Amino acid sequence: MCGIVGYVGSAGPSGRPLDVVLEGLRRLEYRGYDSAGVALVVPGGELATAKKAGKLANLVGEVEAHPLPPATAAIGHTRWATHGAPTDANAHPHVSGRVAVIHNGIVENYAPLKAELLADGVEFLSETDTEVVAHLVARAYDQVKDLTAALASVARRLEGTFTLLAVHADVPDTVVGARHDSPLVVGLGDGENFLGSDVAAFIGSTREALELGQDQVVTITPTSVTVTDLAGVTVQAKPFTVDWDTKAAEKGGFRSFMDKEINDQPQAVADTLLGRLDLSGRLVLDEMRIEESVLRAVDKIVVVACGTAAYAGHVAKYAIEHWCRIPVEVELAHEFRYRDPVVDERTLVVAVSQSGETMDTLMAVRHAREQGATTLAIVNTHGSTIPREADAVLYTHAGPEVAVASTKAFLSQITAAYLLGLYLAQLRGNKFSDEVASTLAELREMPDKIQEVLDRSDRVREIARWMADTPSVLFLGRHVGFPVALEGALKLKELAYIHAEGFAAGELKHGPIALIEPGQPVFVIVPSPRGRHSLHSKVVSNIQEIRARGARTLVVAEDGDDAVVPYADEVFFVPQTSTLLAPLLTVVPLQVFASELAHAKGLDVDQPRNLAKSVTVE
Ligand code: F6R
Repeated sequence: MCGIVGYVGSAGPSGRPLDVVLEGLRRLEYRGYDSAGVALVVPGGELATAKKAGKLANLVGEVEAHPLPPATAAIGHTRWATHGAPTDANAHPHVSGRVAVIHNGIVENYAPLKAELLADGVEFLSETDTEVVAHLVARAYDQVKDLTAALASVARRLEGTFTLLAVHADVPDTVVGARHDSPLVVGLGDGENFLGSDVAAFIGSTREALELGQDQVVTITPTSVTVTDLAGVTVQAKPFTVDWDTKAAEKGGFRSFMDKEINDQPQAVADTLLGRLDLSGRLVLDEMRIEESVLRAVDKIVVVACGTAAYAGHVAKYAIEHWCRIPVEVELAHEFRYRDPVVDERTLVVAVSQSGETMDTLMAVRHAREQGATTLAIVNTHGSTIPREADAVLYTHAGPEVAVASTKAFLSQITAAYLLGLYLAQLRGNKFSDEVASTLAELREMPDKIQEVLDRSDRVREIARWMADTPSVLFLGRHVGFPVALEGALKLKELAYIHAEGFAAGELKHGPIALIEPGQPVFVIVPSPRGRHSLHSKVVSNIQEIRARGARTLVVAEDGDDAVVPYADEVFFVPQTSTLLAPLLTVVPLQVFASELAHAKGLDVDQPRNLAKSVTVE
């Protein structure tokens, strides 16, 4: 939510500060695209700014039409609007005198601060909470003549969440940042340094980075990085190396990041498995930095997450309960935090998040820790806040996910959740040990099977194009097919702006069947007939029930399941696998369907309206 870039180093290898910041914004645009802006510090003691409502392309057009002067330092912002409509005036940076400020988050006490400034005769040009900060920093600088001290003193007065970057025309080689409950990482260069909301901002230039902790202030110049707390005491920031491939953050010949990321899924799953199975086929997850005795003592697991990540959590519930016989609850993180949940020292709270920054999920982790629970983060983004605050972390290795709607991160979250479940089962000497071993062997085959589903996706694309005018699609599934149905519906809503709902197939007759009328398209995720046979026959009965009422049935079933053919208008077959692993395959045609239909409607599948990739406000 809001992307932030800072750069110093006019003589650095990365080129002009403006170009570096625009490139960083391009990579961060998935975080918000209501407006974009830059501020440059120009030698000779001036600021130059440009900002435009709408996507980054508008800003690029503006700076091409009205070129900005050469600079020594630059900050840039891509906005997901909170306070104030997405207009040019509300776009960041906000300038007060010789100071420019950009901000991600919400200043909750902006009203009394603004009243104080108004009473002092300050004039406001925007409706944003950020402009308050710009005026406060300018005033603080006038008193202390030190930008770091000025920003720290203002940060101490703010309530809410923020990452702030500030530049001042008097200090041409410096960008200062501060963070509280909102992300900021440092990229270390040679004769240049970077700040970014996440590492995507600078992976084109450097892989060496520093994590910043809560309530820290960072000052970068071309040759130095200094980190302090809000009181000005120097602290050591933790270094890390970004292992993401820069090419992964490019479209690589695909028409959209979404297409590319759907296509990357075999690799994302393979990478998430990589190095975690030893030669004898046993799972090795020492990297989680969590005592085995703690894991052995766990008597309840609560998965907290939002959106797609929560659906990965639903799949985890079915798998972990079956393999480990530990009760697993799945809860939307924003509900968990505020309902006084029952968790204690023997509860393992698993937070699933692609970005590692989702504020709702972060708050759930904090609450769980306060209650004495052990917290484990399943996260994709290194250097993010949730893994830093959780007791343990199991990284997914999906690489950078640029399209706003999640695809490859979902598959890698499910894969990591399987690894966790199988590891717990292995550790606890579970009576299903043969099943654990055979499931691990089968997991290794999943990347090839996902590739096979992708290779067969022409028909689903064709159907999606035919259905570009459809007003509503329903999705049904049972058991692990239920979260797959929910995810299929979410993808269609957010990519194609079509009304879509996912149901547990058994729930149909308790109400939703009233929606079925002639021609209503319904996707049905059919479980394997080789598994629990009753489940398969029950879903086949559900298909018959809706077919009898005129529904158009689009069925996802496994190879060889001839029983569904007579009841389906279309069948998308996927390779055979065991029931619990099937979501890694059955969701893929639904992702392809949603993406293709959105393309057919001429929509921007990478940046759907109103969304942001990293939701850093509650
Ligand atoms: C949907 C989607 C969102 C995210 C949710 C959580 O396609 O991407 O529903 O899954 O906002 O985000 P993370 O995983 O970053 O915590």
